[in-house]
Formats: sequence, structure tokens, C-alpha cells
Amino acid sequence: MKKISLTGIKPTGDLHIGNYFGAIKPALELAKEYDARYFIADYHALNTMKDPKELHSTIRQVAAGWLACGLDPEKVIFYRQSSIPEVFELTTILMSFTAKGLMNRAHAYKAAAAENNEKGDDTDAGINMGLFTYPVLMAADIIIFDSDIVPVGKDQVQHIEMAQDIAQSINANYNQQILKVPQAGVQEDSAVIPGLDGRKMSKSYNNVIPLFAPEKTLRKTIMRITTNSQTVEEPKNPDESQIFSLYKLFADTNEQSALAARYRAGGMGWGEAKEELFNAVNRTLSPIRERYDSIMADIPALDKILENGTQKARPIAADVLNRLKKAAGIL
Ligand code: ADP
Ligand code: TRP
Repeated sequence: MKKISLTGIKPTGDLHIGNYFGAIKPALELAKEYDARYFIADYHALNTMKDPKELHSTIRQVAAGWLACGLDPEKVIFYRQSSIPEVFELTTILMSFTAKGLMNRAHAYKAAAAENNEKGDDTDAGINMGLFTYPVLMAADIIIFDSDIVPVGKDQVQHIEMAQDIAQSINANYNQQILKVPQAGVQEDSAVIPGLDGRKMSKSYNNVIPLFAPEKTLRKTIMRITTNSQTVEEPKNPDESQIFSLYKLFADTNEQSALAARYRAGGMGWGEAKEELFNAVNRTLSPIRERYDSIMADIPALDKILENGTQKARPIAADVLNRLKKAAGIL
């Protein structure tokens, strides 16, 4: 039997190249060898997105994004989290096996609580139970499909470890291998893609290069990358430049060494380095952008693709859920 690869993306905004290299591209590579199940984590997005129009549209944007990047819905089971009720029933069971202390240690919750403390607010101000129990829903997403490997960026590894903990404590309690224990699949070379300001590229830092922005916007965004005050004449170290580390993602090795030599020789300013980056990014992204625009032009067809995925996903989810309910004495 083929092994199972599963991952989800929260529809909280435009996809960016961090999402592409950290999550989408490695996931699509894995789909060549594994049975893949990829989904839109829309209930995870609801924790922060309370505007219905916006959420409705980001769900479609992220779905169209996956397809534009090459997901083949004939080969990959592709669905919305919210359309699989078995996930939420499993979440309830997992809750009974999840220590509250484990959730206290989750990065996202800890960061939000620390920020409140710093501001002198109540520790839990503005933190909803969806955020606090986020890792349990994510564990259910993973466990419900007997996932072997979960391709994600480095920031998500803690969540996968929590899913392992929860699955293992259930298996230990019933003294059987009822649930599969998943592994994180992190691609080391693209583990953290830097953003415009050199920090991790993230919507929350407002430092992203969007995947589907029109050419003009893409160019403007790349021109905003922060640089140091080195003059045009000064030789530059490509290994210390985030412009160059982004360039490496879009250029082959010959192009990389040619441009690295120009950095080192001096005489090339940051503006020119950005121009080279823009050309490489645009060359890669323009066909993807065209596909995206044409998918977004037919939302009913897109919804139908997701609905077909749901039909394939639910019986698999029901099997795993029933296996656990039987073991637990609920069925
Ligand atoms: P954001 O930080 O912009 O909110 P998400 O948390 O929605 O992004 O991430 C969706 C997926 O993309 C996750 O698997 C995450 O690990 C990956 N990802 C996001 N940003 C990056 C990045 N800068 N580098 C590598 N992977 C990333
Ligand atoms: N938490 C992930 C993120 O922020 C999204 C996600 C939800 C996910 N459920 C998942 C990823 C299950 C992998 C597997 O990016």
C-alpha cells in the first residue's frame, strides 16, 4: 500500500512564496509517490477571520492557488476541512486525551499570551478557544486520514509533534495501534523563506511576496526588499543577502553562480539585484498566475472540484473514526 501524505493551508489571506516553497511545492512533489490528501483548513481560519465575505473569498483563493500550482484533483483528494464532519467528531475524542498543559505550551498560544503580558493586558485577552485548542483540531485533520507524512514549514513541526503525542496516548490507553502516528516532512533547503524585511515571510509580518499579484505589483513588492547602505561599487556577499537567497529559489545553478560572481565583483547596486530577482520570479510565476486567474473566473467549477474531493474523503474518514469509536467503547 502507498503511504499517505496530508497537509492543509489556512485560508487567511493571499498565498505567498513562503507558502509555495514551504508547503505547496514539497506537498505536490510528495503527491507523485504518496496517496495525497490536501485541504483548505477553513475552520482554523475562522479563529481569526470574522468577516464572512472575506473568508468566503479567501477559501476560494487558496483552493484556486493549489490548483494553479499544479494539484491534480484526479490524483489528490482535495477538499475543505469544514465539509468533513468526521474531523470534528474525532476532535471531541482527541480532546479527552489532550493535556491542557500541552496546549499551554503551543507556540501560537504562548506568543499571543506573551504579547498580552507585555502590553500589561490580561494574559488571555482576545484569545479564543479555537486558538487555544488549535493543535487538537490540527491533530484530528491529520489522524482522520491515517497520514504517514505531513509536509509543512518548520513553524508547524511542534503541531505535528503534538499530534504524535495525542495519537500515542490513545494507542497506549487502548493498548493497540489504532491510530497512525504521523511524521513531519520538512524540506531543509526551503524551511524558512525570508520576507521583505529579512524576517520569516508571513502574512502576520506584512512582508510577503504574493504568489498571484499582477506583474506591476510583484515588481513594486520586490523593490521594497530591505537592503543595507552598501554603495553600487562595493563588492557584495551573496550569502548574506536575502535578495540572493530568494533568487536561488527561482534560478538554476548556472544562473546562481553567474549572479553570485556579479555580486562579488562590485559595480552592481541593490536596485539591479532586485531587478534580476524580479525577472526570475516573474518568469516562474507568470504561467501559475495565468492559471490562477482562469480558475478564479469560474467559482462554481472550483466548488464542484472541492465537493468531489469531499465525496472521496468522507468514507475514509468514517473508517478511521469508527475504528477509534469501537476501541473506545462508544460504538
Ligand atoms: P503565514 O505565516 O503567512 O500566516 P501560514 O501559517 O498560513 O502562513 O502557512 C501555511 C503553510 O506555509 C505552512 O505549512 C507554513 O509552514 C508554510 N509557510 C508559511 N510561511 C513560510 C515561510 N516563510 N517559509 C517556509 N514555509 C512557510
Ligand atoms: N496549522 C497549519 C498552518 O498554519 C494549517 C493546518 C491545519 C495543517 N491543519 C493541518 C497543516 C493539518 C498540516 C496538517 O499552516
